[in-house]
Amino acid sequence: MSANDEMAAKIVAALPEEMTQEILQRLKEDVPSPLDIEAYKFLGQEDIDFTRYTDPAFFQTEMDQMWSKVWQWTCREEHIPNPGDHMVYEVGPYSLIITRTETGDIKAFFNSCLHRGTKLCASDSAGSKMDFRCPYHGWTWNLDGSLKDIPSSWDFSHVNPADFGLEEAQVGLWGGFVFINMDPDAPSLADYMGVLPGHFDNWNMEDRYVVLHVQKELDCNWKAAVEAFMENYHTRETHPQLLASTNEPSTQYDIFDDHVSRFYALMGIPSPHLGREMSEQDLIDNMLTGDRETVDDALQVPEGSTARATMAAFLRNQFDEDYDVSTDGLADCEIVDTIEYTLFPNMVLFPGLSLPMIYRFRPIGMDPGKALFDLLFLRPVPRSGERPEPASPVRIGVEDSYSIVPGMDPGMAHVYDQDTGNLALQQEGFLTSRKKGQTLGNYQEVRIRHLHQTLDKYVG
Ligand code: FES
Ligand SMILES: [Fe+2]
Repeated sequence: MSANDEMAAKIVAALPEEMTQEILQRLKEDVPSPLDIEAYKFLGQEDIDFTRYTDPAFFQTEMDQMWSKVWQWTCREEHIPNPGDHMVYEVGPYSLIITRTETGDIKAFFNSCLHRGTKLCASDSAGSKMDFRCPYHGWTWNLDGSLKDIPSSWDFSHVNPADFGLEEAQVGLWGGFVFINMDPDAPSLADYMGVLPGHFDNWNMEDRYVVLHVQKELDCNWKAAVEAFMENYHTRETHPQLLASTNEPSTQYDIFDDHVSRFYALMGIPSPHLGREMSEQDLIDNMLTGDRETVDDALQVPEGSTARATMAAFLRNQFDEDYDVSTDGLADCEIVDTIEYTLFPNMVLFPGLSLPMIYRFRPIGMDPGKALFDLLFLRPVPRSGERPEPASPVRIGVEDSYSIVPGMDPGMAHVYDQDTGNLALQQEGFLTSRKKGQTLGNYQEVRIRHLHQTLDKYVG
């Protein structure tokens, strides 16, 4: 046994008595793979330097050596269903046009004119057109990236059209998401994703659609933003209202590949930090913030049943009748629990049905203290196969509450206000601290350390 394995065993032995797997066993619930896998690793105990979040030189290194070499998702395939449909994806200083070509393939082009560099499409724009024409002097490219026209071409005898196709990034598809990688030598998306596609075999992410999409600007480094959602440790202090339905210290943390980690938190089990007894009926009255407005006030836990089972039955019925979606083949835990995967560097996926979120965090421009947080809710496509139009993004500012977003559940809005409310304070605290870095919990915050160790594999 290595020293790290020994340390991991010690840490696991000191965890609270009942963790996720023990509770599921006590409840005799069906726990399908991969939810029955436990993969905690001890990764060290050194502080994480605050300059990693604040130093422009470190930020530049991340841009040069990490962001330009990793796979990152840009849009869903259904955002660009037809030839000519395109959207602009931006991360830090980089800007790419993602488009559907006339053959139906998807390509990604660096959003910069080969004449004098102007962006061909405006930042964050989307639309449909059959060529890309520079707004400055009118150089124009076909959807496949080949050069179409140079006005006054007599003056450019030195330009060989065959050499003037738009510069491309790699494109990879998985689960209905369109990924890009700016590095022509990067490994394939499948290699990069490691165990993740196998873990998602049952969850059919390709058969989901975007119900709601919110983009919020944050006054913090992109890593601080991702990290705010990698642990359940903050729930006791930041979201006290959730303690009545979630046993946060029992949350399980898993480290898989370099790019993949997970937490698994049970719903419908009260926190020991709540400080009062909860009946199963009390529990269901407090469960599943995201479904509060649709939960019938009269939802009763039958004699001998549990809040979890009652909520699962309720949600199965809701999916069946309201959304025309089958939940056959899904266990109760896959319907009610909070299962969160991260794909390095910035994609967060919740495959469970009750809180079906996708997050993305990315730097805005070259300021290490600014990030954009994309929050999407993805629901399964109805049995009819008719795919509803994806919801357009609603962008809100640093000071805005999620409650102003049309269609946002008020309880969920409050949770995201609480989460994002900590981040500017943390970024400011990084700058004033005399202590040089953050001290992480061995177990509950191991995914944060994992993110930094993977980052180090890129930035050296
Ligand atoms: S900069 Fe694009 S056409 Fe001149
Ligand atoms: Fe939170």
